[in-house]
Amino acid sequence: MNETQDRGQWNNKLGFLMAVVGSAVGLGNIWRYPYLLYKDGGGAFLLPYFVAIITAGIPLVLLEYGFGHKFRGSAPLSYTRANRKFEWIGWVPAFASMVILSYYCVILSWAFNYLVKSFNFGWTSNPNDYFFGEFLKLSDGPFDFSHFNWSIVIGIVIIWTINWYYTYRGVSSGIEKVNRFLMPTLVVIMIIIVIRGVTLEGATAGLNALFTPQFDKLTNIRVWLDAYGQVFFSLSLAMGALITYSSYLPRKTDLNNSAFITAFANCGFEFLSAIGVFGILGYMATQQGVPIDDVVTQSVGLAFVAFPQVLLLMGPFWGKLMGVLFFTSLIFAGITSSLSLIETFTSSFIDKTGAERKKVATIAGLIGLATSLMYATGAGLYLLDIIDHYINAYVIVSLGMVEAILIGWVVGASKMREHSNAISYIRIGSWWEIMIKFVTPAVLGLMLVLSVIDEIQKGYEGYPTAALLVFGVLMVATLLVLGIIMRSRPWHNPETVKYSGFEHDYYKLEQKL
Ligand code: PHE
Repeated sequence: MNETQDRGQWNNKLGFLMAVVGSAVGLGNIWRYPYLLYKDGGGAFLLPYFVAIITAGIPLVLLEYGFGHKFRGSAPLSYTRANRKFEWIGWVPAFASMVILSYYCVILSWAFNYLVKSFNFGWTSNPNDYFFGEFLKLSDGPFDFSHFNWSIVIGIVIIWTINWYYTYRGVSSGIEKVNRFLMPTLVVIMIIIVIRGVTLEGATAGLNALFTPQFDKLTNIRVWLDAYGQVFFSLSLAMGALITYSSYLPRKTDLNNSAFITAFANCGFEFLSAIGVFGILGYMATQQGVPIDDVVTQSVGLAFVAFPQVLLLMGPFWGKLMGVLFFTSLIFAGITSSLSLIETFTSSFIDKTGAERKKVATIAGLIGLATSLMYATGAGLYLLDIIDHYINAYVIVSLGMVEAILIGWVVGASKMREHSNAISYIRIGSWWEIMIKFVTPAVLGLMLVLSVIDEIQKGYEGYPTAALLVFGVLMVATLLVLGIIMRSRPWHNPETVKYSGFEHDYYKLEQKL
């Protein structure tokens, strides 16, 4: 099948694993997880977290790998091949990926700036005022676009150039190659950070705070919503990234085993960074003689305010070294994730229009760059916060639910299970079908309803309703409209959509030969 060759293919399974783990391990792990774990009940958060992994995380990773592999296409192509009516559902994640990327790259630009600042502690002796004032130039509200920070712009241009370059180079000689270098390096850097973190004076205070379970938090519904949101974002679920990446696998490959490896590696990395971060915060609390609560701030604050403060306390040698390592780890983890997001968009357009990868990657890079610039204004942090909230609370969760229902019921969970089991060493049992058809959709549906109720009652973080409507609701509506518009456009080659997926009989046949 020539088509496979044209779309690109991983060199081997290790390359694929590096890329999917690269997609999963990102800002969500280093930046958001430690803070959530602490805020939502320390050790007790592990319960909702594991429930979310078991009821939605692992079943959906297995599903997406099987789906992308069977139908061998980007999200829109795979959905179309499964059933013509579903095409538009595949386009929503393709566009939503670009929305996530637009702000994801901005955080990476901040990290890039802070990496440079690590060499001379450029965040002054008051990192809080510096970050929000001088650096972000935070304006009065989400509609106040005054100020423009040029150093953030430079960072954005650099990050988008990297994204563009590796996407332009293609699957095996671009994405796979860079992941093979960045992922092992990231693990080494993280291990150094953790070892240094836990050997600091007072580290145990931080770890105790992190892992002391506060079981009363489990009755709070927000904690459960956070756990599902975290698992989805962190495992790169429902955004088409895993479907796209598994479509580049060769015919014979162990899908199920790869799914478990991805989930465990991502989870392991999350623990690792939580331990590192809290060891360091424990040191800070001890040095300043304050309770640990006082030093733990929100996710943005954790990396760009609390961390710089600790680095100052560590003195010139360790402080600068740890700063360089920490911000490098954010950038490495973030780049491998953003590559999977841009690839989701790029591959969708390549499949649909038949245009050359180089051309599509360049257009995607330019659109991405232009949208990211919006966040380099004084309103950037507000926009980022609102858009991220809507993507996580609504877009990703609904896409996950729709995916489980459509693939589970219409395409057929048993057909998908048969497909994956036929080529995998570990066979998944009928429990998986029950998860995909009943448990996952039910849990996600419930989460969605609860999110809506919570939002109607409390709004979000005190933002004006107009801002939530424009940047949240309107943004989500635009994604749906774009999906419908794309569906109305013809495929460049009508033959491509006729393909109905690999049949498992093929493998049986091959085994006999
Ligand atoms: N998983 C990435 C992270 O943890 C983010 C991501 C989401 C990447 C969706 C791809 C698709 O940061």
